[in-house]
Amino acid sequence: QKAQIGVTGLAVMGANLARNFARHGYTVALHNRSVGKTDALLDAHGDEGTFIRTETLQELVDALETPRRILVMVKAGAPVDAVIEQLVPLLEKDDIIIDGGNSYFQDTRRRERELAEQGLDFVGIGVSGGEEGALLGPSIMPGGPRKSYDSLGPLLEDIAAKAEDGTPCCAWIDTDGAGHFVKMVHNGIEYADMQVIGEAHELLRSVAGLEPAEQADVFEQWNRTELASYLIEITAHVLRQVDARTDQPLIDVIVDAAGQKGTGRWTVQEALELGSPVTAIAESVFARALSSAEPEMRLEAQRVLPAGIGGTTEDVVHDPEFVEDVRKALYASKLVSYAQGLDMLTMAGREYGWDLDLATIAGLWREGCIIRAQLLEVIMEAYQGDKQPLNLLFAPEFVTAVEEALPSWRRVVARAVERGIPAPVFATTLNYYDSLRRPRLNAALTQGLRDFFGAHTYRRVDDAEGIYHTLWSGDRSEVVS
Ligand code: 6PG
Repeated sequence: QKAQIGVTGLAVMGANLARNFARHGYTVALHNRSVGKTDALLDAHGDEGTFIRTETLQELVDALETPRRILVMVKAGAPVDAVIEQLVPLLEKDDIIIDGGNSYFQDTRRRERELAEQGLDFVGIGVSGGEEGALLGPSIMPGGPRKSYDSLGPLLEDIAAKAEDGTPCCAWIDTDGAGHFVKMVHNGIEYADMQVIGEAHELLRSVAGLEPAEQADVFEQWNRTELASYLIEITAHVLRQVDARTDQPLIDVIVDAAGQKGTGRWTVQEALELGSPVTAIAESVFARALSSAEPEMRLEAQRVLPAGIGGTTEDVVHDPEFVEDVRKALYASKLVSYAQGLDMLTMAGREYGWDLDLATIAGLWREGCIIRAQLLEVIMEAYQGDKQPLNLLFAPEFVTAVEEALPSWRRVVARAVERGIPAPVFATTLNYYDSLRRPRLNAALTQGLRDFFGAHTYRRVDDAEGIYHTLWSGDRSEVVS
């Protein structure tokens, strides 16, 4: 009997995806560089389905029905290229190599191009949902050639999470790196979601005086509102956890220096290239950097930098109105962050020639992935039908939702600023919102200054065509450039 799918790289994500395929009735050929991991998987879970044990890539290739589907689950970067290099000579035309890691989308584009020259399909798939998702049903974002999806799609859709209406959280995104690109932006949004939850947590503590366990109750309650989401749910768990060693809330003994593996940073780097203002994601990446990059500087700052707080504001200890303000601010900020992320996808679609369907993408983030949330159902609906909003915030239900949240949102940002409590995502999303709706931006002065020192020219409000320059160092008359 031949296997329908092969998995090479049996660390936890690879192992759990392999088990997920097997549990769905597929015969799965297993391979790992060191056979120990393969045997460990078979010892512990071999009875979950039909597995074929292989020791070499040649054996893996031989164990598979054709066209072959080989899922590579190794560390992103050079290890993926190394596995591809070893596999290629063993494969035949139309075989599919699938990369399920968090690979950089430009690598995926390159790999698809190179493998296409050899008659092989290369499919980069974004997989979200952590270890548990991989086993029980992740959200899957496949790119790669369309034809490969005919052979691969049904398997992926089988093992993917299902939305409430039964739709699999897996759909072909577009060619080459589109799947990994969408996964990258998913992770950027994940960063912003987590950062703004952290800001809410800080304000609930420092302004409203709520201890972590009390906050856990608040987040549990929020999880029954329009904020309902996996990250809000697990925030309650993390805040409720008591450290066995000290009896303190665990959150108070975790070092406040955030790590990152790179997908958030890539999102921002790529946003800069595209000129896409994903300010919530950028602030979130920088917040992690500020927390961890230079610990000595943070220590020194605590000693030397004054707070300059005028004493005008008081704490609002246990004030339910303030707690509700924070909840509304969190919702509005989150909407802006999603609006920014989705807009980035639109810009990328234009740049890379992908037809990215935002309704589909929001739809497959509804379940399985880390940012799964009730909100994504509403976002999906906003993009269904012919009248696509130019920006998520323009969808009528979100115009109303933000309007309703605005007074709270402004109060929360003002309070944070007055009290010297950092709330970069609450603030930057409000700034984005206000910038977007403002009839005139200070960019006019930027243009004036650029023209002054560098003759960079400007356009006039009363002339759509002309390019102008003022003779700043001459008689200051205006010339058509
Ligand atoms: C997911 C997660 C997953 C991983 C992130 C964490 O969607 O399942 O995003 O891919 O946990 O890469 O990223 P950082 O280590 O950068 O926070």
